Amino acid sequence: MIKRTIVAMPGDGIGKVVLDEAIRVLDAAGFEANYVQGDIGWEFWCKEGNPLPDRTIKLLEEHKIGLFGAITSKPKDKTLAELAPELRGKGYVYYSPIVAMRQHFKLDICLRPCKTFKGNPLNFIRRGPNNTIEEPLVDTMIFRQNTEGLYGGVEWTNPSAQVYDALMTHPKFRDNFGWCPKAELAVSTRIFTAKYTARIVKAAFEYAKEKGYKGITVCEKPNVIRETSGMMLKIAQEMSKNEYPGIEVWDTNIDAQMMWLTKNPEDYNVIVAGNMFGDIISDGFAGLIGGLGFACSAQFGENGVAVFEPTHGSAPKYAGYETSIVNPIAMIMSACMMLDHLKEDEKAARIRKAVTMVIAEGKVRTYDMMKLTGRPDVIQKGAASTREITDAIINAL
Ligand code: NAI
Ligand code: MG
Repeated sequence: MIKRTIVAMPGDGIGKVVLDEAIRVLDAAGFEANYVQGDIGWEFWCKEGNPLPDRTIKLLEEHKIGLFGAITSKPKDKTLAELAPELRGKGYVYYSPIVAMRQHFKLDICLRPCKTFKGNPLNFIRRGPNNTIEEPLVDTMIFRQNTEGLYGGVEWTNPSAQVYDALMTHPKFRDNFGWCPKAELAVSTRIFTAKYTARIVKAAFEYAKEKGYKGITVCEKPNVIRETSGMMLKIAQEMSKNEYPGIEVWDTNIDAQMMWLTKNPEDYNVIVAGNMFGDIISDGFAGLIGGLGFACSAQFGENGVAVFEPTHGSAPKYAGYETSIVNPIAMIMSACMMLDHLKEDEKAARIRKAVTMVIAEGKVRTYDMMKLTGRPDVIQKGAASTREITDAIINAL
């Protein structure tokens, strides 16, 4: 069997902790790979003035598959204060390496599954008829456009005269914002392209087709954001008609969808959205299944590069703990998405089953699952450490 090479990018903070645990689980499941270290994150900003060094980009270009922990980004004033003294004043500017990686490799298709684990004490419950308690089984795949829209980075404070003049040609800008001095303006654009909008919508249709679902939900706001949200909805409707006649298009507005989250989340199996609304709605759904400790993701680009990562950040306050207390499940489930991509179905299924068993048994639980505040004393209070819950998952394998 060919041994694959995976670019392991721990990043900062708890990214380093959870990535190591996921690799332990992959090893235990018999997945054979070489892991090469991809440098990324705050550390490399401070030391080299570049949080995503070219050597990491080269590794991803070569090996195509990345497992990523999490990075730390800090506010503007801290970026220069923490840069190595010899690099200061040389024009280095901090940028988010994860956003840069997504744009460089055009990792435009982001999948964020949110599926209930039975027995998770963090599962969402609601009141049913006659004061009964219901625990809906959520099984939603969110397709988030990952490179465009409000996170596209096309923005200005005090825009140039050329940009300002162009904006002034729009009657809505002239009438509603023309009074504002240019120097007091901040503008962030929301750009959608038909090509990448169609790619994310198509990915959602393909998934619905594979799973036998009758519809996909476009979660945007086309009645107000008429051009961009409108484009996504129209593309979806045409695709349904021309390519996926058996699959309907439902549309919900992001604000209403947030409200429906707690009413009937089990009714949504496939949701597709732009970058920011996809980010919002996926965190909303993640909250129903246990939150950041459980939320995994995969990102795919058109040139064959794929990166798998938990949706949580580097949780700096937990990074320095002698015994780590954070939940590694989001990272382990992200590793399972990597196995899906590599067609290692049997290993992915076994790991998912092991995670499911450990959660259902409820004997080994990290602090978040015990609803404790994350402090070093949670171990004395009976919470499992990061390592202990990983060991339990490995035993269950
Ligand atoms: P965060 O996700 O790092 O942490 C928020 C809170 O969620 C934590 O305080 C903790 O209570 C909980 N949490 C997160 N992961 C957990 C886990 N595995 N187990 C148990 N509890 C967990 O988000 P925050 O605090 O907003 O950002 C911290 C840093 O991470 C910032 O520098 C931010 O820029 C960065 N960040 C990086 C991301 C990435 O690398 N993709 C995504 C989000 C934030
Ligand atoms: Mg987010």
